[in-house]
Amino acid sequence: MATSGSTPPHIQPEAGPSARSPAQRNSVAGPSSPQLAEEGSSVIKRRAVKSRKIRRPDDVSLGVDAEEPSQGDVAPQRNGGAAGPSRSRSASPSRRSVPTRPISPAVRRSASPEKPDKRIAEPAERTRPPAPPPRFARRSHLAPSRSSHPPLLPCRSVYSYTRLNHIEEGTYGVVFRARCNDTNQIFALKKLKLEEEKQGFPITSLREIMALMVAGEHPNVVGIREIVVGETLNQIFIVMPFIEHDLKTLLTDMPHPFLQSEIKTLMIQLLSGVAYCHANWILHRDLKTSNLLLTNRGQLRIADFGLARKFGDPLPPMTQLVVTLWYRAPELLLGAKEYSTAVDLWSVGCIFGELLGGEAMMQGRGEIDQIGKIFMLLGQPNEDVWPGYNSLPLVKNLNPIGPPFSVLRQRFKQLTSSGHNLLAGLLMYDPARRLSADEAGKHPYFEETPLPKHPDLFASFPSVAAGERRHRLLKSPLAPVNAHRVEDDGMDLESFV
Ligand SMILES: Nc1ncnc2c1ncn2[C@@H]1O[C@H](COP(=O)(O)OP(=O)(O)OP(=O)(O)O)[C@@H](O)[C@H]1O
Ligand SMILES: [Mg+2]
Repeated sequence: MATSGSTPPHIQPEAGPSARSPAQRNSVAGPSSPQLAEEGSSVIKRRAVKSRKIRRPDDVSLGVDAEEPSQGDVAPQRNGGAAGPSRSRSASPSRRSVPTRPISPAVRRSASPEKPDKRIAEPAERTRPPAPPPRFARRSHLAPSRSSHPPLLPCRSVYSYTRLNHIEEGTYGVVFRARCNDTNQIFALKKLKLEEEKQGFPITSLREIMALMVAGEHPNVVGIREIVVGETLNQIFIVMPFIEHDLKTLLTDMPHPFLQSEIKTLMIQLLSGVAYCHANWILHRDLKTSNLLLTNRGQLRIADFGLARKFGDPLPPMTQLVVTLWYRAPELLLGAKEYSTAVDLWSVGCIFGELLGGEAMMQGRGEIDQIGKIFMLLGQPNEDVWPGYNSLPLVKNLNPIGPPFSVLRQRFKQLTSSGHNLLAGLLMYDPARRLSADEAGKHPYFEETPLPKHPDLFASFPSVAAGERRHRLLKSPLAPVNAHRVEDDGMDLESFV
């Protein structure tokens, strides 16, 4: 163990089964060893050849053909020839004597196919023949490189943040506004509700963190900064950027509904974030206005991935008990065995209607009531509009209800026919014909006047989440002062946990 660990693996085959003792090796390397001179010179030649074989890949990582890993499959044979006599003759002595340069991790990273090395463009480098990537790189090309993983570090303590105020308590977490003690930046901390957990860390929370890490890079997804922990095992917090508003609170509190141009901007951003999630094989499964955050600069961010999960092709078995009732697609309500990205697009359609109307479009009191509300708005479905409808598990239990056609157009009279076409495309009964996020984002509705408003031109509203609600201030004028006291005294840290 110790020996193999102390010797670089690529040196071992060279030494071979008849590896010499250190003394012999020294004598070979030394200039005054006539009896071994011949053998020594052949060993040195073999080493020169071997070391070229080893060095070539390092040259590659310095930029010869790192951009074309497929060449590596062909090049080893060519390199085999290159290591032969004609190649060694053409190799200049100075080149042979140049020691292998240690390559920093940064250089290796820059040579990966994703990030082509800028030096490839340099003329001097371009004249070199292509060479294969190193063996270890070929072996691991299917797995992400080590540098693409986040570094594994222990979680920091929640006491790295100072609590400012409570924002909201949801079904799966309590959200606080807090200030980072190191940077003074403001963040939102979501404390996961783990008190009831009997079976360890819940899979839903793992999925939420995974989804935020994967999709959080998109500008319309809330993102994640880190996970921090309290003193006990059930005190786990997701640290996210703090966003001033959620659309639900905003729709309730704002004096005037959103303008058409603003709705277009919000919808484009929402569809862009959803498209990114779907492209990365993530279903959100709980899109609704209270899970959509809006910055004071008009940037929408999708939040709350508590019900999100990865999907695949073929679809894995997934629970039907997802999506908040008012935003739940008919295939879920009617017990379809399989569902996919279309469930998120139905929710997007419901959100579009809510932005237009100022309140949730179909507010069912239970599943049957919700199905009834859908049928009343969109008409009674049948095999023509939704192939396979009659064989859905729960259809037999339903009484026929609703008009034979959609009354969507009457409900949203302010919408142009293009806007109506988009809404109807999102609220299509047949999931296979429902618009995808990509298709919806390119809909002509977004190109007709009034054009989408630039996010920077959005009006700013008092942020309830930041304790700026006017009537609250009137009721309890000390609230912001309290927040300062918390910061100044460093008191009340326990109230986090
Ligand atoms: N990053 C954030 N910045 C500001 N406010 C936030 C942030 N994240 C969440 N909130 C607020 O907290 C509320 C609850 O958060 P979230 O939806 O993540 O919790 P939940 O327990 O999963 O909720 P739900 O009841 O929808 O399942 C949101 O509706 C929003 O008002
Ligand atoms: Mg939520």
